[in-house]
This record gives sequence, C-alpha cells and structure tokens, in this order.
Amino acid sequence: KIHRASTTAPVNIAVIKYWGKRDPKLNLPTNSSLSVTLSQADLRTHTTASCSASFPAGDSLLLNGQPQDVSGARTQACFRELRSLRAKLEKQDSRLPALSKYPLRIVSENNFPTAAGLASSAAGFAALVRAIADLYQLRESPMDLSLIARQGSGSACRSLFGGYVMWDVGLEASGADSKAVQVAPAEHWPEMQALILVVSSAKKGVSSTTGMQTTVATSSLFPARVASVQQRMEEMIAAVKERDFESFGRLTMRDSNSFHATCLDTEPPIFYLNDVSRAAIRVVEGINAKAGKIVAAYTFDAGPNAVIYFEEKNASAVAGVFKSRLSHLEGWAGKGEGVTASATE
Ligand code: DP6
Repeated sequence: KIHRASTTAPVNIAVIKYWGKRDPKLNLPTNSSLSVTLSQADLRTHTTASCSASFPAGDSLLLNGQPQDVSGARTQACFRELRSLRAKLEKQDSRLPALSKYPLRIVSENNFPTAAGLASSAAGFAALVRAIADLYQLRESPMDLSLIARQGSGSACRSLFGGYVMWDVGLEASGADSKAVQVAPAEHWPEMQALILVVSSAKKGVSSTTGMQTTVATSSLFPARVASVQQRMEEMIAAVKERDFESFGRLTMRDSNSFHATCLDTEPPIFYLNDVSRAAIRVVEGINAKAGKIVAAYTFDAGPNAVIYFEEKNASAVAGVFKSRLSHLEGWAGKGEGVTASATE
C-alpha cells in the first residue's frame, strides 16, 4: 500500500528582509522579518509526499523531474523532525501504520523558473513540510510546522501562512520561539497587488545562504542595519494593520535599500541589483513623483528581479507604466524577460 498526500505552498516576498543568521545550523536569524505571501495562482510549489513499506530503501526528492540530493543537513532536519512527530503518534496508538519507518518519496513542481531567485526555496520547503505533515496526519499547527520549515530554509517558515506574515527573531538558543506568525490575512488588504519584473531567470551569483554569512562576518554597516530593523518592523506592522500604503511603501523601499547597502559593504562586495534593477527603481521614483505620494514600492531579494507592490486603484498608474516602459528596459539591458502581474493570496 502506498500512502500519499499533496499540497501547494506559495512564494512569499519580504518587505522587511531576513539577512543574517545568529545560528547557521538552525537557521536562526539576526532580526525579525515580514513578508507578503503571493497568491497560489501565481507562484507556487506543488508537492506530493508518499511513503510505503514496499519502496526501495532511502528517501528521494524529485524537483521539476530532476532528482535532488536529500543528504543535505537542511532536508535531513525536516525529515527527522517530521518523522519523530509521526513516531510519537504511532507510539500512542499501536493500530497506526509505522509510516515513520518507511522510505519517503517527494515529488515537487514549481510553476515558475526555479533558479530565478524568486524565493523558490521558501515555497519549496514550506510545501515539503506541509505535504509530509499531511501524509503523517500530524496535528501540529502551521506555527509549529514553521519551526521545521525554517530549518529547511529560513524564509520558508513564512510561506506556511497566507497574507502578511512575521517571522519572529526569537530569543532562545534552541530556536523554539523563532517561528512565523500571521500579522493579517490577505482579505485584510484586498487592494494589495504585486508585480514581478523578471529581469533575469539565470541562477543567482551568490546564494543567500553564503551571501548573508559573508555579510555578517565582514560588513561594518550590518550591525547598524540590525539595530534599526526592529523599529522598522514595528512601523511596518502598524502600516499593515492600518492599510497605510504610503508608510508600507516607504518602509519597504528603505529596507530593500538597507539590505542591498550591506551587500555592497560586504567583502568581497555582493551585487544583486543590475542596470535593469536600477532602471526599475527610477521608474518607481518617477511614478511616485508624478502621483505626489508613494503609490508604488520596489523590493529586491538576492537577485536582480524587482517586485513592485501597489494598490489596485493605482494599477494603471503603476502596472500600466511598467508594461509600457518594459520595452525600454529591455532595450537598455537586453535582458528583460517579461512582467507577471499577481495579486496577493
Ligand atoms: C533576501 O531563506 O533563502 O530573500 O535560510 O539560508 O535558506 P536560507 O536563506 P533564504 O534567504 C532569503 C533572503 C531574502 C530575504 C527574505 O526572504 O527575507
């Protein structure tokens, strides 16, 4: 008999960035972060987890049809924690099949370019953890599961929830309180839209894992960022609660710029933004100058792709301008690969 469960997890894009670990093994961050989970319809990972006594020994993971290495510490940590929760249930009820002892087979598909720096590890580990938790019929809450997904990839803990999600930095050395919490559901601010400008779908130069470790080790700007980010977190939570787009946008852009400034201050320097990214920043500045207030906000992760947040009522002023300017962006860098509009979940 084959036991099986399927799930999907969406991508999340941080507006207050996670950059820096105080414990690289447990993926414990140096600061809290906050993200918006995109809608399932747009960017998501679909994952099926199955297990059976009849499977050949050894766990396996297929991503977009390609076999992946599951021996890494992060994947192993997720498997181990989920298995031990299942083993607990089996101990309590001897009639349950011993799924915790069976080999696991995971099959994942992304509906977006995996290596495009579009938070694929976030959706990937969130879907992996939820699929196995469903397969094992675990009763843990999304918050509990976020502690496990975090060990796969830090940002993955935030994809266990929709809407506006905070990852609390936590105080404990064990990581037991470094978990994701929903600040507001997507319905709280249905006007919110995200536009993703895929500047390049090439694999990013410096991975976020390596990049953030080097920043922590070498950047003298980094401690200043960490010292100011908690205040920004509080203002961001208030902006979300009040649906105050001007504050939300200002804080989003400030935090993205602060993060990329610490990257440039890293030795050797890390450049995630390219000419097209910088052109996108100027387009947003132009849109906001014309509107006389902040109606659009850009943010960039560990790659050149821009995510532009705006409210539906300003769609033509923002998305319209980006679509008509895209040809220019392509002309400038010869790399533009299209725009995807997406609503939040
Ligand atoms: C710039 O979650 O990919 O996207 O924990 O090492 O897997 P690991 O890092 P990862 O880092 C994401 C960094 C970011 C900012 C963010 O999503 O908060």
